[in-house]
Parts: sequence; C-alpha cells; structure tokens
Amino acid sequence: MNNVPGPAAAAGRFTFPGTDISVNRMGYGAMQLAGPHVFGEPEDPEECRAVLKEAMALGIDHIDTSDFYGPYVTNRLIAETLAPYPENLTLVTKIGGWRDEKGGWNMNHSPDFLRKSVEDNLERLKLDRIPIVNLRMGSVDGFSPDEEIEAPMEAMRKMQEEGLIAHIGISTVTSDQVKIAQGIAAIVCVQNHYNLIHRTDDALIEDLAGQGIAYVPYFPLGGFLPYQADILDQVAHELDTSIQQVSLAWLLQRSPNILVIPGTSSRAHLRQNIAAADLKLGEDHLKRLDAIAG
Ligand SMILES: NC(=O)c1ccc[n+]([C@@H]2O[C@H](COP(=O)([O-])OP(=O)(O)OC[C@H]3O[C@@H](n4cnc5c(N)ncnc54)[C@H](OP(=O)(O)O)[C@@H]3O)[C@@H](O)[C@H]2O)c1
Repeated sequence: MNNVPGPAAAAGRFTFPGTDISVNRMGYGAMQLAGPHVFGEPEDPEECRAVLKEAMALGIDHIDTSDFYGPYVTNRLIAETLAPYPENLTLVTKIGGWRDEKGGWNMNHSPDFLRKSVEDNLERLKLDRIPIVNLRMGSVDGFSPDEEIEAPMEAMRKMQEEGLIAHIGISTVTSDQVKIAQGIAAIVCVQNHYNLIHRTDDALIEDLAGQGIAYVPYFPLGGFLPYQADILDQVAHELDTSIQQVSLAWLLQRSPNILVIPGTSSRAHLRQNIAAADLKLGEDHLKRLDAIAG
C-alpha cells in the first residue's frame, strides 16, 4: 500500500504490527453518519455521501465503522458510496453488540453472535475479508474489568484462521484484558475512550507504543459530551484555530502509535479536522494542555 497524497498524510503514517497495512495517522470515524443518537437514517444522506467522498479526496485511508451505527446505516452508506473501494483504503469494523428497536445499545460476546456479526459486516461492506475487526468488550458505558475475554478471543482467532478476518483489534479493554487477548492471538490495535480530558489509558498507551501496537482513541473530541476547558480555549485562540484542531493535534503528538478517527457528519468539520494533521503544538502549548487532566 502506497503513500496517499492529500492533507491527511501530514501527520505521517503507521504500519499495524505484523501486517502489510499502513495508514495515515489521521483517519475518519463513521459513527456520526447515522441518524440522531446514532440511530436510524441520517437527516442529510447526501451530505453523508459527500463527506465520505471528500474524505477520500483529502487522503483519508482508514475508516472506522460498525453495524452498531444505525444499526447497519454507516456500513451501508460506506459500501454504497465507496465500493469498489480504493486499493489503499483500510476499513476497520467492530463487533460485540447490537441495537434494539428503541435504539438501546446491548452487548453480546458469545461466539455464535460474533460469527454472525462478522458475516453481516462482510455482506454489508461488500468485502471477502475484513482487514481489521475490533472485538468490542465491556458494557455500553465502558470497561468491565472482570469480564472474561478468553472465549470471545478464541472465536476471533478461529475466524482469522478461516480467513474472514485479516487482523484483530480489541476495544474497551483494561491492560490485563489486553495481555490475556495477546496470549490467544496477535492484536494490532486497541480502541479505548481517551482524549485530552479523559486520560485513564496513559500507561497503556506507553506499553502499546513499546510493542508497536496502534492505540485508536474513541471520543477524541469528547464524543456525545464535547468537553470544555479554559486552557484549551486559550491555546486555540493563541493559535487562531479551533479547540477540535488543538485536541486532535495534541493526540497526534501524544504518542506515535496514536491514530485518530474523529467523527463528523459535515464536510466543513471534516476539512477542519483533517487540517489538524498539519498543526504542530510547541512545548509551551503541550505543557499547558497536559496540565488540563491534572
Ligand atoms: N469502540 C467504541 O466503543 C467506540 C465508541 C464511540 C466511538 N467510536 C468510534 O470513534 C469515532 C470517533 O468518536 P465520535 O464520533 O463518537 O466522537 P468525537 O469524534 O469525539 O466527536 C464527534 C462529535 O464532534 C462533532 N465535531 C466533529 N468535528 C467537529 C469540528 N471540527 N467542530 C465542531 N464539532 C465537531 C461532531 O458533530 P458534527 O457531525 O456536527 O461534526 C460530533 O458531535 C466514531 O466515529 C467511531 O468510529 C468507537
């Protein structure tokens, strides 16, 4: 896979360990393409398709998605808009849960459910094999440290051996669960909740960086609850940019194994977010931003 031109390339590239998949560190998360509360059809499907096309034009080569979103809406939009896919595009999906008819989020880590989810993703994304699948552990709200990851990971390994999945990632996991998972199959990425304000995973990020494993923070801009901090406002003002760009630039400078996947349903925000790949924060700004998390 060759370098992709365009502004998304400005933050450099990352190769997932033990794979031939390399992506720009600036990626895109598709969750915001579903309807309100990530449920149902989007209010402006044409804008959603335009966002996906513009992402390709700006050099995005890593899209994070899931059948959770809609459900099925973002996967369908991606396939409708982008298939047959550009050769250099890496689609990453996640399994481990489902939506009920009221939009509630439910988890299921049984091997049968995981297999059905992979089969559904293959069909909806129009793929013969999914480049990377994240096993989404935990509850809807976050980590479940006591939950056993062995059986679901065995199911993931089996699907990898059968060729349905090329590589495995894990999401919403503790560092202990990461270690257990690694004893069962190679892990190429970990996707957890992390951003400028929510920094529970600082030590895990260092550990994964030492092993060359990608860390992909979800809610990089705060997700459903956009965060606020006076220092962030001040830094954005001093640099004549937005708090979202500062937040993304901070993540990209935080560690070389961090890949960002900010979500948006608008082309204007997409352009702003991707431009953050080229925003360099100086020592003074980094020091002040680091202090926000206390
Ligand atoms: N593994 C997991 O359990 C999990 C959980 C959540 C998310 N994810 C993944 O992580 C990705 C990123 O998370 P996220 O989308 O939930 O949250 P996020 O990227 O932290 O924030 C998205 C929110 O910020 C707004 N936004 C984006 N760019 C903006 C800008 N430049 N200026 C102002 N507002 C902006 C979006 O609204 P607009 O649409 O109006 O731009 C949306 O409301 C998701 O797309 C999904 O792929 C994974």
